[in-house]
Amino acid sequence: MHKKMYNFDKIIDRKNTNSIKYDSSKEIFGQEEVLPLWVADMDFQSPKAIIDAIKERAEHGVFGYTYRDNQSVVAFISWVQRRYGWDISPSQVSGSPGIVTALAIAVRTFTSAGDKILIQTPVYPPFFSVIKGNEREVVTSRLLLQDGEYKVNWQEFEQRIGSGVKMFILCNSHNPLGKLWSKKELEMMGEICLKNNVLIFSDEIHADLALNGNQHVVMASVSKEIGQNTITAMAPSKTFNIAGLLNSVIVSESPKLLSRFNKEIDNLHLGLGNLFGHITMEPAYREGEEWLQAVTEYISANADFAFDYLKRELPSVTFVKPQSSFLLWLDFNATGLTHEQIRDKLANEAKVGLNDGTTFGDCGRGFFRMNIGTRRAILKEALERIVATFK
Ligand SMILES: Cc1ncc(COP(=O)(O)O)c(C=O)c1O
Repeated sequence: MHKKMYNFDKIIDRKNTNSIKYDSSKEIFGQEEVLPLWVADMDFQSPKAIIDAIKERAEHGVFGYTYRDNQSVVAFISWVQRRYGWDISPSQVSGSPGIVTALAIAVRTFTSAGDKILIQTPVYPPFFSVIKGNEREVVTSRLLLQDGEYKVNWQEFEQRIGSGVKMFILCNSHNPLGKLWSKKELEMMGEICLKNNVLIFSDEIHADLALNGNQHVVMASVSKEIGQNTITAMAPSKTFNIAGLLNSVIVSESPKLLSRFNKEIDNLHLGLGNLFGHITMEPAYREGEEWLQAVTEYISANADFAFDYLKRELPSVTFVKPQSSFLLWLDFNATGLTHEQIRDKLANEAKVGLNDGTTFGDCGRGFFRMNIGTRRAILKEALERIVATFK
């Protein structure tokens, strides 16, 4: 039924809208003409309930200081209860403009300069820059492709966690691999962290975008002990394509952890937040579910389309189908070209703007990340250009 109601093939010109993805091509790729399939936002309009709330508030015309109301928090709590079976109360919920802001605050609050922080590579580039920028040490454990699935090297993970690491930043679900962690995997990671007294920051910004009926599991929901040792970051931003409204939700079941986090939010005067972020939160979580179902079906079909197309036309470029979100981790290594040659060809011959895999860690050589949260026609054109360039 929703196929009639939502038209994700609608052409929407995003140029000259202060869009990083569409208006920064020259700086990033050296030219204007690339098809931009990089920064992780989608090209689709948000659910109508969100647009209506913004219109109504804009018409009001007064945009003074603001705060997040209780109904928004209750809508979020009901969302995570319903979708993930995660039972939390309003006193366990806080906020932050963005999740990366919250991550930086957590790193500064719960670790000290020189401390080690573990991340699983390849991973979202700000995980590196937040750790390094705050003068902590990056410790990595690489996710390995085995039998068509990315997996933890458990021996390495346990050894690294036990090497004096103070915090583990989990990407759940994983960007760029599109991996949804199973309850068993989360339990194993959570237990190893507990055993070694390592705090978990679980970045669950992509949680709501599970594809093909896959089920997201919240790290903090796995056990009471793990919940007490975790700070969870979620947001309506990726889910409903409102990243520009800067509004995220930070949860901890540990009053101690949350009060230390909140103290820093207060110290930095980040508590008030953005008016349009606040007023869209309740409609998003109360009325956005049907749109979300439709958009994830569209993204799944995009992933299938890209998979079949590359398999047929360019078997030297492969990817593991994502279980979640709208990002493909494309492996160009079998083309036999160097990373630099691939990067140059993508930008200057194919004229397609993808994220450079090496920004996700050294293991990203030969990989480029493609954002498929776009119209099928754009995806098709990008793939055709890639095939014409690399065949
Ligand atoms: C794993 C992950 N965390 C955080 C972010 C960005 O979060 P925010 O814009 O709320 O800082 C992204 C955006 O791509 C992401 O993929």
